[in-house]
Formats: sequence, C-alpha cells, structure tokens
Amino acid sequence: MIAQIRADVKEKLKHHPKRLRHVLAVEKTAHALARIHQADETETRIAAIYHDTMKYASLSEQLRYLPASEIERFQSAPVMYHALSAAAELEKTYGISDPIILDAIRYHVFGRPHMTLVEKIVFVSDMCEPNRHFLDWKALDQLAQKDLDKAVYEIMIIIASYVEKDDLPLHPLQEEAMKYYKEVCCGQTQKSH
Ligand SMILES: [Fe+2]
Ligand SMILES: [Fe+2]
Repeated sequence: MIAQIRADVKEKLKHHPKRLRHVLAVEKTAHALARIHQADETETRIAAIYHDTMKYASLSEQLRYLPASEIERFQSAPVMYHALSAAAELEKTYGISDPIILDAIRYHVFGRPHMTLVEKIVFVSDMCEPNRHFLDWKALDQLAQKDLDKAVYEIMIIIASYVEKDDLPLHPLQEEAMKYYKEVCCGQTQKSH
C-alpha cells in the first residue's frame, strides 16, 4: 500500500520537484521519529507522504472535498484547506479511514491540542526535514528525538512568528494548540499521549 501511495504522490507532484523532495524527506524524518517514539510506522509514513498532496490543487478543487462547516471554520486560515482535502482524498482514493492517519494529515499545518503520537511526529517532521534550511532543522530534529512535546511547542512558536510577520491573526485553533503545548511543556497539563 505505501509503495502504491508513494508512486501516486510522485506522479501528482512530478511538476513540483521541490515539494516532492520535501514530502519524501518528511516521510524519512517521520519514519525515524516513529521508530524512536514507538509510533506505528505504517500510519506515520502514509500520513507523512500524503500530507501535502493537495498543495497545488486549485481552491475550488480543495473545497470540493470539504463540508460547509469546515470551509467556514477555517475561512480565516485557508492554508488549512490543502491539509483537510488531502485527508479526504486519501480516504476516498484508497479507502483509508484510520483516524490516526487522517488526523495527522488534517492537522499538520499548525497542530491542535491533544495530538496523537503520529500527529505530533508528522507535525514536527514537516518542519525539521533537511530541506528546511531556513531554520535550524537539525536542532529541532534532535529535540524531537529527545522530547517530542517540546519540539511541537518550539515549532508552533516558529509557525506563529511567520503568521504574525505577515500581520495575520492566529487562528483560534492555533492559539488553543499553543496554549495547550505551553502547559504540557511547563508541566501544568498531563500529557494525553
Ligand atoms: Fe502542508
Ligand atoms: Fe509539508
């Protein structure tokens, strides 16, 4: 199954070599982290390889997969649509309904509170694969190997700084996620995974 999905992703992204390099590297990084943190390797790899598949689909194509409630919920953060629609497409195309895989794809953009182990791994791998040379991906990867929650929080801060630099407001889910992982890292909230 993974081989077929990877082959299809290669075909879909054949005109976007940088993105293809990124998703293959995210798969590799996520796979290594799955081994370290004993997450399900197959779930992690499928989510990682598929997470950006809808990145270059038109907005109308992305929205076609989504219920009105989701379109409305993320109207102020349309970057979420490529993630939500990729999960929907994976489910439709391959009959994969495993919520662990689907949620890891759905919430890879800025995370959410109470992420599963696979969600956290895909979320951090998206930012600490070696093609992310504009940030200290190596340090983030090392942190993720040691303390996944801390890496999640560090990366949430980086992502929020990008949003704020563009003078955009944070989405409420992004704010909730940051608050939750700040508490997790400060030891005030029990880890859910
Ligand atoms: Fe993405
Ligand atoms: Fe990505």
